Amino acid sequence: MVERVGDAVTQVSPGDHVVCSWNPHCGHCFYCERDQPILCEPFARHQPAGHLLDGESRYTLDGAKLHHFSVVSSHAEYCVVPESGAIRVPEAIPFDRACLIGCGVMTGVGAATRVARVEAGASVAVIGCGAVGLNALQGAALEQAAVIVAVDRDPAREAIARSFGATHFVLAGDAGAIDQVKNLTAGRGTDYVFECAGSEASLQLGFEVVRPGGHAVILGKTAVNQKVSLRFGSLMGEKRIVRSSYGGARPRRDFPWLAQAYLDGKLKLDELISLRLPLDRINEGFDAMRRGEIIRAVVEFPA
Ligand SMILES: NC(=O)c1ccc[n+]([C@@H]2O[C@H](COP(=O)([O-])OP(=O)(O)OC[C@H]3O[C@@H](n4cnc5c(N)ncnc54)[C@H](O)[C@@H]3O)[C@@H](O)[C@H]2O)c1
Ligand SMILES: [Zn+2]
Repeated sequence: MVERVGDAVTQVSPGDHVVCSWNPHCGHCFYCERDQPILCEPFARHQPAGHLLDGESRYTLDGAKLHHFSVVSSHAEYCVVPESGAIRVPEAIPFDRACLIGCGVMTGVGAATRVARVEAGASVAVIGCGAVGLNALQGAALEQAAVIVAVDRDPAREAIARSFGATHFVLAGDAGAIDQVKNLTAGRGTDYVFECAGSEASLQLGFEVVRPGGHAVILGKTAVNQKVSLRFGSLMGEKRIVRSSYGGARPRRDFPWLAQAYLDGKLKLDELISLRLPLDRINEGFDAMRRGEIIRAVVEFPA
């Protein structure tokens, strides 16, 4: 909830319920003017240094400067964010559900609906069924894709993947995984692939199972200096490959839309929450995520 606003703020007021965006944008740099706010230059310049878009920090501790984490720093009772990083959503959506919209939900649902624009009747493969992949699955289902193949190396993800819209499940790492996906689409491969695991193996699989002329959307992330080897033939055949941060997010357009879709019963959020924790036990949530035991842990603050 918004506690206080600066003099120049016009879009939100104290008392508003908001979801924070980890990619706020200035609105007038080279990329913002070209409708690519995810590439906003002040954000790219200052976020890695732990600063807000003006290159400054608003935090101190005992006189020493502190930094902002990804322009959000919401692992605290209060945080300072730029106006474009606080997006008003309907008050009816509970905070513990609304907070999920700001990263994995936007990224996965947006990849299917905004970036790829999956059409009704299409075939889709989603590789990696964590929070991002599950939301790519439900984005494909929202667009009425006909064949939705969930792929994960963990067989325990099959049940939740199916509940988020998967029509089939393939175990990654099986010798026949590529053929299993292709056989569901008359041997061609799927119209769309969403890579949501962030590893060399999942990237390799993604390019193999997207059909000639199809779209591969890479959402996962490896270390930026890691080399990834690909079979060149897997890139051929007029495949269209795009890497997306944040699923084409336009937060002021999309966060209220996603919140309303939840309130209308069209978007699953409750099922993403495996664990609720108070702030002082936050590291237990990170540990459980690292072990792959949970989808998302939500930090609850006293009302
Ligand atoms: N593009 C973006 O804006 C954006 C936003 C958030 C997260 N991410 C990235 O997306 C990826 C997924 O995030 P998450 O939070 O859902 O992660 P997660 O760890 O919760 O889930 C990853 C899933 O992938 C599966 N997996 C791992 N290796 C695999 C393989 N080789 N083949 C198939 N499945 C495999 C795991 O079993 C797990 O179910 C990460 O790389 C993360 O950094 C990107
Ligand atoms: Zn900008």
